[in-house]
Amino acid sequence: MTVTNSQSGTNVHEITDGIYRINTPVLFENGNSFSFNQYLIADDEPLLFHTGPRNMFPLVREAIASVLPVNQLRYIAFSHVEADECGSLNEWLAAAPQSMPLCGTIAAMVSIEDLADRSPRVLADGEVVSLGKHRVRWLDAPHIPHGWDCGFLSEELTRTLLCGDLFTQGGADLPPITESDILGPSEGFRHQMDYFSYTKNTHEILERLASTEPTTLACMHGSAWSGDGAKLLRDLADSLTS
Ligand SMILES: [Fe+2]
Ligand SMILES: [Fe+2]
Repeated sequence: MTVTNSQSGTNVHEITDGIYRINTPVLFENGNSFSFNQYLIADDEPLLFHTGPRNMFPLVREAIASVLPVNQLRYIAFSHVEADECGSLNEWLAAAPQSMPLCGTIAAMVSIEDLADRSPRVLADGEVVSLGKHRVRWLDAPHIPHGWDCGFLSEELTRTLLCGDLFTQGGADLPPITESDILGPSEGFRHQMDYFSYTKNTHEILERLASTEPTTLACMHGSAWSGDGAKLLRDLADSLTS
């Protein structure tokens, strides 16, 4: 793990072949703590999955620059429209002149065609983009865990599911990647901060994510996770609907 900003504690760790977790811990005045992660896929056409909030742009830029020149970024992708997902999208489009937003059809239609300074590359459900060695597949996941526009990227070389807000863990002092249980802590967080919507499609969507048989889950908040991702997603589905 490399600390790229000693003041904020922003750090970078390669969680699997060519995929870097950029993590910034946040401490609140009431004593609670949280963390924001972004994931960089370093390849011929580098991709950033979620940008972090706009006020973290300098920290994320500094962290990415420790891995590759930021102006080489090709795709700025995210799960759904929220500040921590795409708050600095336009800053990134300016910093990386060859880059474009990468998102699903609902995000493009509802928000990004208007909010972004350049038009997005819009991915249909199941569509694949080759980055070089890595290949990412977009999976629509409306309202799971929230946002009509929600979806995820499955990276097929490393079997990494870029799973956004799924398995959100509170706290700031967590390892970059763990094989320990994250379902218990994330379910504890869900019961405290009810950030999920519950739809009739919950089981079906989580089952489809499980069918990609991920071995790494790249969570936006907390540790990334290594293990039988299909089982963990099915356990989450059972927990949500029990
Ligand atoms: Fe979210
Ligand atoms: Fe988030």
